[in-house]
Amino acid sequence: MDLTKRFAGKTCIVTGSGGSIGRATALRLAAEGANIVGCDVVAEGAAETVRLVEEAGGAILSVHPADLTEKAQCERVVGEALDRFGGVDVLFNNGAMAYFAWIDEMDDETWTKTIHEELDIVFLMTRAAWPELVKSEGAIVNVASLSAWAGIELLPALAHTAAKGGVLSMTRQLAMEGRKHGIRANSVSPGTILTNQTQFIKDDPEWSRIQLGRAMMNRMGEPEEVAGAVAFLASEDASYVTGADLRVDGGVLAW
Ligand SMILES: NC(=O)c1ccc[n+]([C@@H]2O[C@H](COP(=O)([O-])OP(=O)(O)OC[C@H]3O[C@@H](n4cnc5c(N)ncnc54)[C@H](O)[C@@H]3O)[C@@H](O)[C@H]2O)c1
Repeated sequence: MDLTKRFAGKTCIVTGSGGSIGRATALRLAAEGANIVGCDVVAEGAAETVRLVEEAGGAILSVHPADLTEKAQCERVVGEALDRFGGVDVLFNNGAMAYFAWIDEMDDETWTKTIHEELDIVFLMTRAAWPELVKSEGAIVNVASLSAWAGIELLPALAHTAAKGGVLSMTRQLAMEGRKHGIRANSVSPGTILTNQTQFIKDDPEWSRIQLGRAMMNRMGEPEEVAGAVAFLASEDASYVTGADLRVDGGVLAW
């Protein structure tokens, strides 16, 4: 087996392809030979990912703007994947948006939007892609979070923990339902990953103490380090791995 081309001939949907982890994963899977189907609600970031993948010699189709909290948009992404590449082998459910408030300040809208944009989005996209994943005996990789496993002192993450906890447990159920079809379903749980939104943590002593001090590595993770874990779970190297969660958290939860 050519380990550098684990995804040759495979088509991988990457949701949230314009974001940090989505882009890094699109680039990683494309470098390993995948046809990428990107999609994002924000057109600008998604278009930049297309440019970067193509510049690196990869094959990519991108559907943007596409709000994946809408059933029709999820079906559109799968339809375009079929038209261009003829199937779907991997679904990487990465795209999400969370809203934060402590419980005494949490209004209904903040709660509902987070559940919708972090949890419903995974269900809607997976349901849309399921018939194709059945045909291909494909793989699903969902993005859960450290927040699915533990509270983070400074983060008012009630809705986020509920949504990502849902993603984590839904992944086990998808693995169980998928087993009859040869579908594997796993998740990754990133810790604190250096993205545009988390840059401030490095510069704030209190955040730094809580977020970085808890990591054995004593640093933030890079999007590429999540992408490597996703590529493993999506590949045949993980052929006996399903219903699992791979923590990419620098050891936070291990001590
Ligand atoms: N950065 C971290 O420290 C961290 C930690 C744990 C988990 N995560 C998870 O990793 C995933 C990617 O996060 P990131 O850090 O790369 O953030 P990001 O904001 O850079 O990327 C998320 C992308 O998803 C897109 N998106 C959001 N809602 C969408 C919708 N309704 N339809 C289509 N696209 C939508 C956004 O436009 C964005 O491009 C998320 O699921 C996030 O919860 C991130």
